[in-house]
Amino acid sequence: MAKFIRLQPSGKEITCAEDQTVLEALEHAGYALPNNCRAGACGECKTRVLSGTFDQGFVMDMALSRKDRAAGYGLMCMAKPTSAALELDYGTADAQPKLFPPRTGVPFVVVDKMARAPEVVELRLRPLGGRLRYWPGQHVMVGSTDPAHAERQYSMANAPRPDGEIVLLVGRHRGGETSTWIHDALAEGDVVAVSGPYGTFIGDVSLEAPVVCLAGGTGLAPILALTDGALRRGFSLPVTIVYSARRSAEVYERGLTAYWQRRYPNFHFVVTLTREAGGSGEYGGRIPDILPGLFPHLAPYQVFIAGSPGFVAACEAAALVCHALPERVFTEAYVPRAQPALPASERLMEPSAVG
Ligand code: FES
Repeated sequence: MAKFIRLQPSGKEITCAEDQTVLEALEHAGYALPNNCRAGACGECKTRVLSGTFDQGFVMDMALSRKDRAAGYGLMCMAKPTSAALELDYGTADAQPKLFPPRTGVPFVVVDKMARAPEVVELRLRPLGGRLRYWPGQHVMVGSTDPAHAERQYSMANAPRPDGEIVLLVGRHRGGETSTWIHDALAEGDVVAVSGPYGTFIGDVSLEAPVVCLAGGTGLAPILALTDGALRRGFSLPVTIVYSARRSAEVYERGLTAYWQRRYPNFHFVVTLTREAGGSGEYGGRIPDILPGLFPHLAPYQVFIAGSPGFVAACEAAALVCHALPERVFTEAYVPRAQPALPASERLMEPSAVG
């Protein structure tokens, strides 16, 4: 028999079918919950159950400690309600997902550094100690562990992983002290200080609508994280990334996007080049110029745009001309020396729920 799940403090109710886990029921109803392994091993989906009973199934102690259990937490990727109703501490008063409280100066080791394009390096960083929990699309501030290099903002390019590894794409900015340090001096094995997560470029996960993403330069990073998270959780509606670069050599992550295209028939990666002719299947010209030909009617879509402020403004204007609904357009612009945008405190998760 189907059970009810009530989300507090919003009071929204959803049904949970006999064979569904709580996570599956939430996602089926359009509510997002952080998750990763979906097998009771990583702890990412840990949630406080306010009332009702549930069968937790087999989960790892490191993902859900005795202390967690005693405090009423459960792993929703494995939990199945056994009482008629289960009440969860979920989201805000209007049922939006909560954000994780930022941490400051968390030490991460550079486990890999590689050139992705002439002016872009990819950093793979792993935390010493606890993982940094975040939503795909958010960013962190990265600086040196001594005060010599100021923190600068970089978006995660991957959805959360059980080992806590984050992937950053760092463009070289002329005169930019921190990006010059990262490109020219930072080495594998070095330790950096990471603060975050920050930002609300996570979209509206309750929207069941196809997705168009418009990215320029290292604006591809948050778009990759959002796509990674959506495809991994089984989002089945069309997802298209339109990526703008000046030259073919500046298009990176071709391997990952090719994998996604083969693995997920609903995913498409479109490249447009602005300073040289595109290869087979590629476009030429700026996104605002080619968008009407690709997506003349964007009203049914959610649109994500990330890149420089000028790029974002031009793409947003073009999307609206193509009939995108303003409330379904989500933007992330990289402003040089931007301060972290702290989310509204109302959306912050309680520290006890973060682990
Ligand atoms: S998603 Fe990993 S424990 Fe639930």
